[in-house]
Amino acid sequence: MTKAISGFSRLSKTEKIAWLTSTYFENPTQATQVLSSYWNDDKKLQQLHDEFIENTVTNYYLPLGVAPNFVINDRIYTIPMAIEESSVVAAASKAAKFWQDRGGFKTTVLGTTKVGQVHFTYDGDASLLTSFFESIKPQLLADTAAITKNMEKRGGGIKDITLVNKTQAVADYYQLHCTFETLNAMGANFINSCLEQFATTLKAGFEAEARFRESGANLSVIMSILSNYVPDCVVRAEVSCPVADLSEKNIDGAQFAKKFIQAISIAEEEPYRAVTHNKGIMNGIDAVILATGNDFRAVEAGVHAYAARDGQYRSLTHASVDDGIFKFWIEVPLALGTVGGLTKLHPLVKWSMELLENPSAQELMQIVAVAGLAQNFAALKSLTTTGIQEGHMKMHLMNILNQMEATDAEKQETVTHFKTNTVTHSAVVSFIEALRS
Ligand code: MEV
Repeated sequence: MTKAISGFSRLSKTEKIAWLTSTYFENPTQATQVLSSYWNDDKKLQQLHDEFIENTVTNYYLPLGVAPNFVINDRIYTIPMAIEESSVVAAASKAAKFWQDRGGFKTTVLGTTKVGQVHFTYDGDASLLTSFFESIKPQLLADTAAITKNMEKRGGGIKDITLVNKTQAVADYYQLHCTFETLNAMGANFINSCLEQFATTLKAGFEAEARFRESGANLSVIMSILSNYVPDCVVRAEVSCPVADLSEKNIDGAQFAKKFIQAISIAEEEPYRAVTHNKGIMNGIDAVILATGNDFRAVEAGVHAYAARDGQYRSLTHASVDDGIFKFWIEVPLALGTVGGLTKLHPLVKWSMELLENPSAQELMQIVAVAGLAQNFAALKSLTTTGIQEGHMKMHLMNILNQMEATDAEKQETVTHFKTNTVTHSAVVSFIEALRS
């Protein structure tokens, strides 16, 4: 039987599932049941999810958890996090609690500028193109008036357009490098619409110029698209306290600060460590991005490019001790939206936004940066003291129990036992087997 199909997208959902399950699964009835067990009984809600993408066959659940007690600029937040990794929400909550008693998190938005580019080739005299660009710039802006009207009313819009000569890098390659302020919108549609209009105006203006016709020069638009690299849409989050206040039961504040800063220095200089270090930060960032319906792929791409902006991939967080004060901070680019996209559509995104008391995009940037900083603090605190596995395995215990299809009673006994015993996969398996025999 062929495993290829034409016209798949035109089939009904039931037909798609019938084809998939009969083509790829040993037990089509069971495979169908797995899918249907995740459908929502509320038909309207299911339709909403079906229509987010093409070829939807079911819903893919992730847990939505919350981390309370985040003090950010003296305001208390409970942060929603959608993530499957077992220790992330617990780690965030612990870090929030730790800093709640030590002044909380302080944040500042350093910039909100977003970027888009029209990429084109031109094979004529560069100075002619420069003077043409200067003359057509007002027209580029005027022709987008219908697109920018509402954004401008709210205080946003196009900030600037510059012509960039990239012919040293790629033959005949130029770009219109454009900057935007999109306020509470992530702005992808707004930016891309403006860029496509710029491209149209540029091409039409070029074709209307006799000097270009006479010289025989060609201009060809390659593509118009926003950039997910947003080094001027950056937020800073910070915690600080006297070194002595870092002390806890088994931890001496000064020793903790020293090791913590060494761990950061390693991540600043050593790319193998930096990638894992930043991955831990993204555990926090992505979980909030997902819960609030933002585009985590865009954020990931932009953040990692930023981490490598001087040519070497480095830590996003930094730490210092000056005059007995420990300081730990992150600066991270985040192009986020709190209007548009999924924000008004997905009921759990709406719920998460309300939990955060309906933040502006700038407020959300600050909350997300804090989630990243908190996550990194929790990871480094474990790594430089007890090691990561103790907490991880405790959180992983429930996954092992579920894999073994443990009953509620077995779960309860196992959790009690492992409060005072080291969790390993084999120790849990042996314990359950002993219970069952
Ligand atoms: C695991 O998801 C994240 C950590 O590896 C981060 C780190 O090493 O800093 C714990």
